[in-house]
Formats: sequence, C-alpha cells, structure tokens
Amino acid sequence: MRIDKLLANVGYGSRKEVKGLLKSGAVKVDETVVKDPKIHVNPAEQEVTVHGELVSYREFVYLMMNKPQGVISATEDSYQKTVVDLLELEDAVYEPFPVGRLDKDTEGFLLLTNDGQLSHRLLSPKKHVPKTYFAHINSPVTEEDAEAFRQGVELDDGYRTKPAELTILSSGHISEIELTIVEGKFHQVKRMFEAVGKKVTYLKRISMGPLDLDESLELGEYRELTDEEIEALQSYTPGDK
Ligand code: URA
Repeated sequence: MRIDKLLANVGYGSRKEVKGLLKSGAVKVDETVVKDPKIHVNPAEQEVTVHGELVSYREFVYLMMNKPQGVISATEDSYQKTVVDLLELEDAVYEPFPVGRLDKDTEGFLLLTNDGQLSHRLLSPKKHVPKTYFAHINSPVTEEDAEAFRQGVELDDGYRTKPAELTILSSGHISEIELTIVEGKFHQVKRMFEAVGKKVTYLKRISMGPLDLDESLELGEYRELTDEEIEALQSYTPGDK
C-alpha cells in the first residue's frame, strides 16, 4: 500500500496533509526517512513511524455496536444518520460496514467490519446463521404462535419462513418474547408476527451466530471484538452454539 494512503487511512490527515508530513521528514520506514508519497510499504512487515511514534495498522476491524433507534444500518446517507456516523474517526478510517441490517427503529447487536469475506459468510442464506431477537408484542402470544413459527408462517408476499424458535417470556396485553430466526428477510420478525395477527412494538437483536450482545454497552456505544470473539466468528458453523 502507498505510504500516503496508509497514513491517511489511519488518521494522519488528508492525502495532501500527509504529503506535507512526509516532506517534513517526520516519517520513517524501518528507521529510514521516507519523503516520497508514492513509496509502497507493507505495514504487516515494515515498521512505520511518524515523529518516532509507531503507526499501528490492521487490515481488519471488527466492532460490536448496541445500535440505538433512529439511525439506519448503512454507511452513508444524504439525509439520515447512519451507524457509521456513530464511530470514532480512528475506527471509521478502516471503513467498516454493517453486517446485515436492522430497521431504523430496531435496537441491539450490530456487527461492523471491513472483512468482506466474513460478512459474506455470515449473511449467506445457505449458512442459516441464527439471530435472536427480544421483542414486545401488542397482545397475548400463545403456544399456537410458537407452533406456527416452528412450522413456518406465510409472509405478506407469499414467502414461507424457515422453522423459527419462539420463547414466550410473558404473555399479556404487552407480551415479551424471544425469537430465533435463521434467515434475514426484510422486516422479518415484524412480518412474522403480522402473519399471526400481532404487532411488534419494540425490537432488539440480542445475538448473532456465536456472539451475544454485550449488555454493558449503552445504546449507541460499541467496542472491538476480543480475539476470542473474532475466532468464534471465523470458525463458526451454524449449529455450533
Ligand atoms: N426483523 C425485523 O422486523 N426488523 C429488524 O430490524 C430485524 C429483524
């Protein structure tokens, strides 16, 4: 990667500002001053410093966010705030994107990464990665609903859902449930409840594949995944959990 791109990516300013930094002699590669912005470096093997400070560069970043309501699961939008707008610059420079989508009014577990392969694997419909949601429903939820979800329900567009696991935590005029689905159709949880004549009034994702939402994260907060969590995702094959 070009040295100017590397330094700009990790937050040393625009390509133009970085050019100035290089010209000033502040940048060294393996102890040798480098002034040419076109020089290629391999940050995994070479030591790059700016004013003597080591530049840490990672290829991939993996972030777990507790998504708040009111932001969309996209990288940019002309009108609406996105989950990427919630990131610190030092994380945003790696250009992570959300793995799958949560609705604007859905909260909870959202993975952001720039690892396209991992994202692809987790989202592939063939992989059947389970996602568990906690929800409030506007009326009593029954064992018949649980059985219907186990069998698969027909959505408004005629699609029949794959077997899903419904746990009724409390049933009343506002019910609390957990639902695990293995696909990710548009508005799937809301539409599954519509299929049994009920309405989701609050929705939060609490897990995805092998990972649970870190409940110590406030809404809008995020943290890097630990090495163990990254490993769990990389090696995950559904049915593991
Ligand atoms: N199902 C929904 O209806 N909405 C979400 O955001 C996620 C799953």
